[in-house]
Formats: sequence, C-alpha cells, structure tokens
Amino acid sequence: MNKLFKSKVISNEALTEEIYLISLEISDDVETKPGQFCILRVNQRLDPLLGRPFSIFEHEKGEIKFLYRLKGKGTNILTKLKKGDSITLTGPFGRWYPFPEGDFIVIAGGIGLASVYYLIKKFPQRAYLFYGVRNEKEILFYEELKRLSKQLYISTEKETSYAYKGVITELFREKSIQLPFPIYACGPMMMLKELKKIVNENRPCYVATEERMACGVGACLGCVIKTREDFKRVCTEGPVFELKELVL
Ligand SMILES: Cc1cc2nc3c(=O)[nH]c(=O)nc-3n(C[C@H](O)[C@H](O)[C@H](O)COP(=O)(O)OP(=O)(O)OC[C@H]3O[C@@H](n4cnc5c(N)ncnc54)[C@H](O)[C@@H]3O)c2cc1C
Ligand code: FES
Repeated sequence: MNKLFKSKVISNEALTEEIYLISLEISDDVETKPGQFCILRVNQRLDPLLGRPFSIFEHEKGEIKFLYRLKGKGTNILTKLKKGDSITLTGPFGRWYPFPEGDFIVIAGGIGLASVYYLIKKFPQRAYLFYGVRNEKEILFYEELKRLSKQLYISTEKETSYAYKGVITELFREKSIQLPFPIYACGPMMMLKELKKIVNENRPCYVATEERMACGVGACLGCVIKTREDFKRVCTEGPVFELKELVL
C-alpha cells in the first residue's frame, strides 16, 4: 500500500560529480521490495510541480535511500537538500522483481545500479553481477558489491586492472553460457535493446524500465511503454517487466 510521507533528510552525499546518495527518514511500518520506486517531491514550491521517481536503493527500518544522477531541474534541487530539510515522498510504487530461488544474474548499466542493489543486498552471495560504467570514477560501492555478490564483473570504456574494456552486454554475452540463471537488469535503453538480442526468450529475464512519469498511480498514461499485447503503464504495471514482453 503506497502512502504519502512528510520526511526529513538524514544525509545527502555527492559520490561523484553527478551521482548522489540521499537518505531519508521513513516510518517504521513501511514495507518495500526490490524494484519498487518512490516519487520524491523535491520542492515545497510549485516549480517543479511534479515529483520525480527514484528506485528504492536500500531500505531498513526508519531509513530509505535513493541513488540518483543529476539530470535537470528536479535533481538539481535535490542535490541542494541538507540534513534536517523537509521532503515529501510517496510510495512504494510498482511491481517488484520476483524473488530469485537460487543463484541469479544481475546486469546493471550505470545508474541502473540504483534499482538492483537492494535485490543483491537482500540475497547476498547469490548474484553474478555484471556492472557497466563509463569510467573508473563511476564505479560505486566496489567493496560492498564484491562482498555481496557471488562474482563481480565490471566493464568500463578503458581497461583497468579489474575492469573489462567495453560494454557490459558484451562481457555478459561471453560468460552467459556458463551461467544458466535468471536475469535481473536495469540500465539505459541501449543496454536493454542489446540484451533483447542476446537473451533467449525461454530464459527468465526481468528488467526495470525508467519512463518519464507524472501521476505515478496509473491515471494519466504519461508513462506508457509498448509491449507485445498493448501499451502498459510503467508506474503500475511496471517498472519491472519480463524482457520478452517489451517491444524495444
Ligand atoms: C521508475 C523509475 C525509477 C527511476 N529511478 C531512478 C534512480 O534510482 N536514480 C536516478 O538517477 N534516476 C532514476 N529515474 C530517472 C529519474 O526519475 C529522472 O532522471 C529524473 O526524474 C529527472 O528529473 P529532473 O527534473 O532532474 O530532469 P528533467 O529536467 O525532468 O529532465 C532532464 C533530462 O533528464 C531526462 N530524463 C527525465 N526523466 C527521465 C527518465 N525517467 N529517464 C531517463 N531520462 C530522463 C530528460 O529527457 C532530460 O534530458 C527513474 C525513473 C523512473 C521512471
Ligand atoms: S505516471 Fe501517470 S499513468 Fe503512469
């Protein structure tokens, strides 16, 4: 059941020039699941009027975290919030990732890590994590990811001592035959399109999509995505879909 919360900022930290981690207070009775998102109303004033959707990065009793990339007006306001500032959030919204029964594969492209980290943390030592970033500076939470995942593969545009040079889908293509597990992925549309070429339709593959949103509750049709059957609303019928359902 989603609710509206008047919250306070616990911390809001720049991890890179563009990527931030914000931690907010939340009442103890809220239940969330990996893959769900909340809408943050970044400003108490009218501009911007609409809240901004962010995946739940981590949630423990009384505290919820969001990892976000600075994009435009809304996220710029978000970066300015300090400890103790007020913020309104609604949520949790959306379909979550089905829980994996055994080992699983996670593919995270850039800020897509925000959507899958909670899943990796909930099922430690079970994820083969493929994490692709543009450059070494954008590799986030390296030690935690190494500890939480069964195996960590990283790709960047330049080769480093621990990263493969190239895009993460290439690295996944090389390894995928040896890893016959369900796949969970979040990343840019290009990455999802590449995955669609690689992944056999018989293999479970769940992806989180990030369309633009307005109401967040299924009323405005501002977030529709094309599927094999029909157009679906990312806010209520997603954001997690089976990859084979989507027309990308
Ligand atoms: C379900 C869901 C979960 C999301 N989770 C996260 C998350 O965990 N971390 C995170 O950093 N971002 C996430 N996003 C994207 C995030 O909502 C947008 O980046 C944010 O709303 C941009 O707001 P803005 O006011 O700063 O940018 P705007 O001023 O609205 O736009 C600035 C630029 O960002 C682009 N943009 C706006 N919205 C989106 C979007 N939804 N997807 C891609 N590009 C967009 C615009 O095309 C424009 O170029 C998520 C989106 C959805 C729908
Ligand atoms: S954001 Fe309004 S229907 Fe999805």
